[in-house]
Amino acid sequence: MIYISKRFERLIEKLKKIQNDVSSEVSEIINYFLKYFTLDYEKILWILRLENENKKEEIYKVADIVTRTLTTDFITLKGIIEFTNYCNKSCNYCGIRVQNNCIKRYRIPEEEILKIAKNGVDMGLTTIILQGGEDEYFSDETLERIIYKIHHEYKTSVSLSIGERSKEAYKRFKEAGASKVLLKHETINKKIFNEIHPDKDYEYRIELLDYLVYLGYITGSGNIIGLPGQTEKDIADDIIFMRDHRIKMIGMGPFISTHNTPLEGYPDGSADLTLNAYAATRLTIPYALMPATTALGTLKRDYQFKALRSGCNVIMVNITPDKYRKNYNIYDEKIKVEFYETAERILEEGLKLSPYTYRRILEAKRNGYSYERI
Ligand code: 5AD
Repeated sequence: MIYISKRFERLIEKLKKIQNDVSSEVSEIINYFLKYFTLDYEKILWILRLENENKKEEIYKVADIVTRTLTTDFITLKGIIEFTNYCNKSCNYCGIRVQNNCIKRYRIPEEEILKIAKNGVDMGLTTIILQGGEDEYFSDETLERIIYKIHHEYKTSVSLSIGERSKEAYKRFKEAGASKVLLKHETINKKIFNEIHPDKDYEYRIELLDYLVYLGYITGSGNIIGLPGQTEKDIADDIIFMRDHRIKMIGMGPFISTHNTPLEGYPDGSADLTLNAYAATRLTIPYALMPATTALGTLKRDYQFKALRSGCNVIMVNITPDKYRKNYNIYDEKIKVEFYETAERILEEGLKLSPYTYRRILEAKRNGYSYERI
């Protein structure tokens, strides 16, 4: 006998219940999903290309049911600290590329990073993401110390979003207490990858991702949606690539045309296509942790919350102090996703927060939000 978990039983029940009310194409997708627990290339492509509003709503609903039933019933808030905007790389889309001398560069001192992280944990965050450009000023030893302290002393998970470092470094960070890494593949289309990354190696990026999975990291990847020359087929390939490489966290954001970069002036990516991509990914990689990205919120503020009903289950709030944050312009007009404001909005939408986060917010509210806000 095949063992079917209670969750999966509930999922079958819920999906069967809505199946009579949806179009024949979406009904077929439900059948396929219930049989194989993923989608194939053609079905992913069909979802990505969807323009019919009713069918879009149907597929978002299916993705939402899968998210709520198979992953957590709440939205996870993660706190991001952008600790350096120095970067020695030349990615053509990115506002902090080394050639851009129109921005003010900063590095947050080690002690201050720790203070910001501690404050974030006290506020109710359960994961701290350390994000920065590729900046060797922060040595492996320094990062190890920071990771160790946040993980072991503040009892919080640490996620790294620091681009490419040596395999040895990632091994050491794991031992120091980091449990997650975000390293976007950006696009699996090799031609586009090479065009937009003058000093990156396509094969090494994939090799490093595989190595992170091998090391036991909860490994995140993702793409940019709407890069010049990219088609829906490329995005379908991205999703299948992430499934087949055991990627557990998936960050997909629309391309945002950015001043003082070689891609300045190219059209922004589509917010609608991004939502379709979230739904398709949820049905292809059902257990994924998938943030409603800041890039999507920057393009269309409301879509970031719509995304939480279309397959996403995470939101990254920015805890970088404003004096630094305003210079972390990886793309133009990047919005600030603020902790309390985002939490309130999630609750207003009828969604839940994790018990720890919720409890800390209630406490803060009772005290008139008197937390030190760095
Ligand atoms: N548009 C969209 N996303 C961008 N990123 C950097 N620049 C841009 C841009 N112009 C994303 C990349 C990178 C992450 C830190 O930010 O996907 O991995």
